Amino acid sequence: MSGKIYIVGIGPGSKEYLTLKAIECVKNSDYTVGSTRAIELFSDVKNTIAFNVKELLDKLEEGVDLAINGNTVSILSTGDPGFSGVLNTVLRISKEKGFSHENIEVIPGISSLQLAAARNHIQWDSANVMTFHGRENIEDILDVINNGKLTIALPSRKVKDMAQFLLDNGVSEDRPVTVCERLSYDDEKIVSSTLKDIAKSEFTYMCIMVIESEN
Ligand SMILES: C[S@@+](CC[C@H](N)C(=O)[O-])C[C@H]1O[C@@H](n2cnc3c(N)ncnc32)[C@H](O)[C@@H]1O
Repeated sequence: MSGKIYIVGIGPGSKEYLTLKAIECVKNSDYTVGSTRAIELFSDVKNTIAFNVKELLDKLEEGVDLAINGNTVSILSTGDPGFSGVLNTVLRISKEKGFSHENIEVIPGISSLQLAAARNHIQWDSANVMTFHGRENIEDILDVINNGKLTIALPSRKVKDMAQFLLDNGVSEDRPVTVCERLSYDDEKIVSSTLKDIAKSEFTYMCIMVIESEN
């Protein structure tokens, strides 16, 4: 008998942003697959399969195999699974292994993008929303950066490199930029400055960039 997979969004990282639905899915699952940091958010969890970035694909495959063997499996994804999350990867693996997508349920989570928008009082339906996570080709941002709208971006590389790329491509050094780092964690940091200054600053990889529209 086939099992079930929940692809569970866990929000930006702090417990406060977990949904009741995410907690319920994990509680009702035989196995929970996720990064150690993600698994630690849950107090009621049965068997765990923790992974680091290098092991991601192997562990996702293990999760799908467990579901094929009749188990209920929660696969945890930071933020929302459908925004630079594991959704497409799990769907692909499931398809390859013949696990029906009918037995997969996606549980949305609060994306880091949404929290960045909220922190900065941004109505994000009118912003350029871009993700460069896992992509080396970041030229696409140049198509929108001067279209009169504010841009919210998940950088593909270090924030300072992304800022330097924009400077190298003619964006004004005085363009206001806000970097939202480690949102929802105790050491959350929100820095508002100019593109020129951001290109000289160090941040961790866990950042969202909010780039104001040109005047
Ligand atoms: C693999 S993507 C996952 C995005 C996730 N699915 C979402 O909806 O937020 C990881 C990137 O998301 C951003 N991110 C995730 N959590 C964050 C947080 N708490 N604060 C700032 N940025 C975060 C960072 O840009 C990080 O490199």
